[in-house]
Amino acid sequence: MTAAQVRAGPVDFLLSGIGQLVTCHPALGEGPLGVVERAAVAAAGGRVVYAGPEAGLPPDLAPASGATRIDALGQAVVPGFVDAHTHLVFAGDRADEFAARLRGVGYEQAQAAGGGINRTVRHTRAAADAELRRATLDRLGLALRHGTTTLEAKSGYGLTVTDERRSLEALAWAAERSRVEVVPTFLGAHLIPEEFADDRDGYLDLLEHEMLPACAPLASFVDAFCDRGALTVAESRRVLEAGARHGLRGKLHANELGSTGGAALAAELGCVSADHLLFCDQGEAKALAAAGTVAVLLPGTSFLLRTGRAAPVEVLRDAGVTLALGTDCNPGTCYCESMQLVIALACVHGGLTPEEALLAATDGAARALGRGGQVGRLSPGAACDLVLLAGRSYLDLPYHLGVNLAKVVVKGGRVAADDAAGVPAEAGP
Ligand code: NIG
Ligand code: FE
Repeated sequence: MTAAQVRAGPVDFLLSGIGQLVTCHPALGEGPLGVVERAAVAAAGGRVVYAGPEAGLPPDLAPASGATRIDALGQAVVPGFVDAHTHLVFAGDRADEFAARLRGVGYEQAQAAGGGINRTVRHTRAAADAELRRATLDRLGLALRHGTTTLEAKSGYGLTVTDERRSLEALAWAAERSRVEVVPTFLGAHLIPEEFADDRDGYLDLLEHEMLPACAPLASFVDAFCDRGALTVAESRRVLEAGARHGLRGKLHANELGSTGGAALAAELGCVSADHLLFCDQGEAKALAAAGTVAVLLPGTSFLLRTGRAAPVEVLRDAGVTLALGTDCNPGTCYCESMQLVIALACVHGGLTPEEALLAATDGAARALGRGGQVGRLSPGAACDLVLLAGRSYLDLPYHLGVNLAKVVVKGGRVAADDAAGVPAEAGP
C-alpha cells in the first residue's frame, strides 16, 4: 500500500482522467497544494481511499457494480470548498444600504441610522418559520452549486431566546435537506439588541442563563461580535466563557471595524478562530499563532466595506498563523455564497497567493472548524468532497473571474451538483 491509498477492495466512486489533482495535502504531490498530474481519486463509503497518479491506481481498487464513475476529461479537481464563516440564517435584505454604501455612506453610519444588524433582526423576528427555513436552504443550494461542501453558519439575527433557537432550528432543518455539511454556531452576541440598549448586562444575563441553555444543544461553537459599536472585550469574554461551560468552543469576530482587542482575546481564550482581523499587529498575530487560533479572512467583506483596507496578510503570514477563508455571507456587509469569488478576491484584493487562497478555502477553513484532516483535503481517510472544475488548472479560480467553474460537485463520494443537469442531483451521471 502507498501513502495515497488506505485499503484494498472494490470502491463505489472513481474519478479518473484528472489533468490536475489538487489534494491540498503537500505529502501527496508537488508544492504547498500537493498537486498531482494525470490523477485519479477513488472512494468507498464516502471516504477517499486513493488520491494519486492514475497510473498508480491499484487494480484491486476496481469499482463495484453501480459505482459512480466520472471521467474528468483532463480538467482540474480541487477539494470541496469549506466556507469557514457565514451568517446564512436571515430574512429580508439590505440592498438599499448596499446602494447607499456605493454613494459613500459608511457601514457604521448606516447602523447608527437604524439600519445594520438591528434591521435584519427586525426582519428575521417577523419572518415565519417556513420563510426562514426556505431562505436558508436556498442559500445552501447556491453555496453547493458553487462548490462548497462544508459550511459554518451562525445564528445572530434573532437575539431573543425564541428567535435564536428558531434560527438554529431553521439551520438544522435546511442542513437535513441539503448535501452541504453544516457546522452551526451560536451568535446570540452579534449585537446588544436595541430594546436592551440601556441594559446591556440585562441582555448578557438573558444570553447566559436562558439563551445558551436553549441554543447550545443545536450548536458546535459560540461566537461574539467584539468590535466598535458591538460588544466590548469584557462582554465578549463573558459570552465565550459562558459558552465554554455549555461545551461550545469559541470563535470571535475580531478587529473588523477597529483595533479593539478582539484578536488578543481570541488568542488568550484559545478560540478555534479569530475572524475578520482587518486590524492586527505583529504582537496579536504572534499570540494567535502561539494559541493555534486560525485567522479567518473574509475578503468579500473587506472589499465591500469600501474602506480600502484588507487584513494584513504579510503580518499574519510572518507570524505563522494558519489562514482560512469564508464568504461571511450576510445581508449587510457581503451577500455572497461563492467561495470561488472569495478565492479571487483573496488574491486580487487580499494579497494572498493563489496557493495560499486555495489552501485557506479548504484545509485552512477545515481547521477553523476543528475539522482539519477530515474535510478540505483529498487524502486517504478524508471525506471524498471535491469539485471538478470547468478548467485545466486551479489558477482558473482567481483568473477566470465571476463565472461558476464548478462543473460537478461531489460530497461524500456522491454527486451533489452536476452542471450538466443544471440542478442538484442525487445520483451520479
Ligand atoms: O461579519 N460583523 C458582524 N457581522 C457581519 C455583518 C452583519 C450585518 O451587517 O448584518 C459581518 O460583517
Ligand atoms: Fe461575520
